[in-house]
Amino acid sequence: MRVRIGILTGGGDAPGLNAAIRAVARRAFQLGHSVSGVQNGWAGCLEGGVIEELRPADVRGILPLGGTILGTSRTNPLKMKDGVATVIRVLRRHGIDAMVPIGGDDTLSVASALHEAGFQTVGVPKTIDNDLSVTEFCIGFDTAVGVVTEALDRLHTTASAHHRVMVVEVMGRDTGWVALFGGVAGGADLIIIPEFPLTLGDVVSHLYRRRGEGKLFSIIVVAEGAHIPELEQEAASQAETDAFGHVQLAKRGIGDALARRVELETSFETRVTVLGHLQRGGSPTPTDRIWATRLGVHAVELIAAGKSGVIPIRRNGEVEVVPLADVIRETRRVPEDLYALTRVFE
Ligand code: F6P
Repeated sequence: MRVRIGILTGGGDAPGLNAAIRAVARRAFQLGHSVSGVQNGWAGCLEGGVIEELRPADVRGILPLGGTILGTSRTNPLKMKDGVATVIRVLRRHGIDAMVPIGGDDTLSVASALHEAGFQTVGVPKTIDNDLSVTEFCIGFDTAVGVVTEALDRLHTTASAHHRVMVVEVMGRDTGWVALFGGVAGGADLIIIPEFPLTLGDVVSHLYRRRGEGKLFSIIVVAEGAHIPELEQEAASQAETDAFGHVQLAKRGIGDALARRVELETSFETRVTVLGHLQRGGSPTPTDRIWATRLGVHAVELIAAGKSGVIPIRRNGEVEVVPLADVIRETRRVPEDLYALTRVFE
């Protein structure tokens, strides 16, 4: 049976979203289905939202493009009265039979509610934070880690030339995956993540120890959501929330506060780099392209097979299909044994 499949991208953008959109659309066309592009995440499925037919030409040439041709937003219908019912009404009005939402926990929690309400829905995992449960792959994470790694390579040479401490703040709201992987790949001397709080005292002794060993520069990677008790007040006073009530962690300024206090306590010349949205921009890595493609194609095959409430993920290096509820059950945090790896290089 020919069906009309709706695609949307929700939450923060991530490199690889267009690869996934292309994969969903191309496989759908190949199987004889039609595709509608919902613009700006779930906002596109509310009254006044924009939904347009996607044709083969619309998804041509987008594989290497960052961002998302559909636009995105953090609009969450679950936070609105009758939000899910409205979404389903709007989708049906546009003749859409099934949805493929591509996103992180917020976007996929709406996907799960849509399925519960009887609308056929199959998700695709995306978040540069890499903190969805169960899946080994989220679109955008690999590219973000690449950006951090390159930044650390560049910062090493200038840090070493000036004998400075470099504080590098990276994204990671509740978890330290980007900080940990980027930090390990880029040879950071200290990595501070939300899962394992350090004190300012720990950081300062680390820096003195390195100097004592004749190492005249240090690179510290700190995740934007990390907790350093002595800096909490300073960082919290800078925080602002966005229109959706999320604290804007880049404005919390943990990297800035840390660099200031480190210099004050040690007199070591210190500089801060906030990588911010550089980690989310630009062209996706081959890994992000390949897995966005595999999971996007699989999502359409699941729709064609009549499945709903599920999501294709990567487990043990292969595509597996699990319930949507499993990937949003909890925030996946960096385990202690993985964090212990960083201690070898401190
Ligand atoms: O959720 C992904 C993420 O990149 C977080 O790591 C970060 O805190 C947040 O998005 C920033 O989002 P924005 O500035 O786009 O609102």
